[in-house]
Amino acid sequence: MALRLPRDALAPLLVLLLVAVAVHATDATPRLEMVTSAAPGGGVVRELAPRRGDQQHPGLFRQDCAVVAREATAYTEGLELAGDGREAWVFDVDDTTLTNLPYYADTGFGAEPYNATYFEEYVANATAPALPEVLELYEKLLALGIKVVFITGRHDYEREPTVKNLRSAGYHTWEKLVLKPSSLGSSVVPYKSGERQKLVDAGYRIVGNMGDQWSDLVGAPEGDRTFKVPDPMYYVA
Ligand SMILES: *[C@@H]1O[C@H](CO)[C@@H](O)[C@H](O)[C@H]1NC(C)=O
Ligand SMILES: *[C@@H]1O[C@H](CO)[C@@H](O)[C@H](O)[C@H]1NC(C)=O
Ligand SMILES: [Mg+2]
Repeated sequence: MALRLPRDALAPLLVLLLVAVAVHATDATPRLEMVTSAAPGGGVVRELAPRRGDQQHPGLFRQDCAVVAREATAYTEGLELAGDGREAWVFDVDDTTLTNLPYYADTGFGAEPYNATYFEEYVANATAPALPEVLELYEKLLALGIKVVFITGRHDYEREPTVKNLRSAGYHTWEKLVLKPSSLGSSVVPYKSGERQKLVDAGYRIVGNMGDQWSDLVGAPEGDRTFKVPDPMYYVA
């Protein structure tokens, strides 16, 4: 099912994508973040899936992010909130709240095989920048009194750099940061949906759930509404 494109076609396309991101990036924060579920032993399927048309419209990725963030913002503004401190919004981390484009830029945007060692260094560096549209949504949620919960495929041993990176990227507070126990296998859906169930069991109402992978979003309880951020780089089953 992998979408195959000739490498010669990919390189310029992805460079354009990077340039588009770089142009919009704030200088306030460092760059890049990673997909932890791709850690050693992880059953991550990676494929390049740039959309037809991105080459002609390098700003599409950010435009699409903005569309999703606008939808999410409009949705939250229309919510009837109880304000009881139990309304929660679930975010994925890699390539949702933080972007790993700096890592991809350094590794040929997928032209080079995935390098787990290098990615681990990248995560440890804690320099991934925020996806700006998602950071804006985050601020909006806090202003509305909605609690933010991060559920990430990053492993628990990566907590320290993840906390550091979230803070440096602008995510200064949260209700919970759930990392994957090292003992858990690679399956994303049971892990993430199970963690959402724990939230519900603890009395939270998940008003929204946002991720760059469908595996962040499917599996009951999904949350009252789900939002998919575009990810032109890879697919995690
Ligand atoms: C992977 O990354 C490590 C750490 O940066 C580096 O030493 C190694 O040469 C890289 N491997 C490949 C195949 O590029
Ligand atoms: C991590 O940071 C060091 C020091 O700034 C830098 O030399 C190295 O290239 C970075 N590695 C990655 C993978 O970002
Ligand atoms: Mg992700």
